Amino acid sequence: MEFIKVKNYDEMSEKACEILVDRMSKLQQPVIGLATGSTPEGLYKLLIDKYKKGELDFSNTVTFNLDEYVGLDDDDPNSYHYFMNDKLFNHINIPAENIHVPSGVAENIQQECLDYESAMKVAGQIDVQLLGIGQNGHIGFNEPGTAFDSRTHLVDLDESTIQTNARFFDSIEDVPTKAVSMGIGTILESKEVLMVISGASKQEAVKHLLSGEITEDVPASALHKHPNVTVIVDEAAWGDN
Ligand code: GLP
Repeated sequence: MEFIKVKNYDEMSEKACEILVDRMSKLQQPVIGLATGSTPEGLYKLLIDKYKKGELDFSNTVTFNLDEYVGLDDDDPNSYHYFMNDKLFNHINIPAENIHVPSGVAENIQQECLDYESAMKVAGQIDVQLLGIGQNGHIGFNEPGTAFDSRTHLVDLDESTIQTNARFFDSIEDVPTKAVSMGIGTILESKEVLMVISGASKQEAVKHLLSGEITEDVPASALHKHPNVTVIVDEAAWGDN
């Protein structure tokens, strides 16, 4: 696991953009795993800028998002589908059929999970998986205790995650309690992982990653088992580590 320490959020976004664009430029059909949350938003803005300047083309890019809330459809402003359309897909030339986000409203969620895994297999492995991190060390919506060999699955969100994500909803009662998420095993199969971490609220998670300890209590620690992980951390998240 390689750590890159940067000054602030903007530098983190720029560094992540540089790495992602470099990898995309080397691939005929890049398969990119995408993440939601506030952390990758700056990166998405930079990708849009590059596309608008004619420096980046998404016509051959295939994407797979990590996760989605159960019960929210694509049009719900709090769904991750909506987030991705709003923050990235609506502004670039990616063909709609190349975009994959798990459905949180499928009638049969178990089948949806299996279908999502199959779609990833058909596309080939994910070339670069972008990740944020939850304050409790979650990746995607894989909460503490999730098995490292888990595949795309239905998850019960941690109380702490519900509290943290309540800021996006009108009231805490509106926050979904379940989600569909790629599993940790799914994430570990990607060829490369690019993680972005910003802000003081992530210091504990960073401390744990730096310790090198591998435990299911901190889902992101599974990434130590992966041969090609870059973690971009800003000073606020690094703290006095
Ligand atoms: C959610 C997402 C994660 C994301 C995390 C952190 O829980 N499922 O993929 O990494 O939020 O979000 P933020 O970047 O807003 O701190």
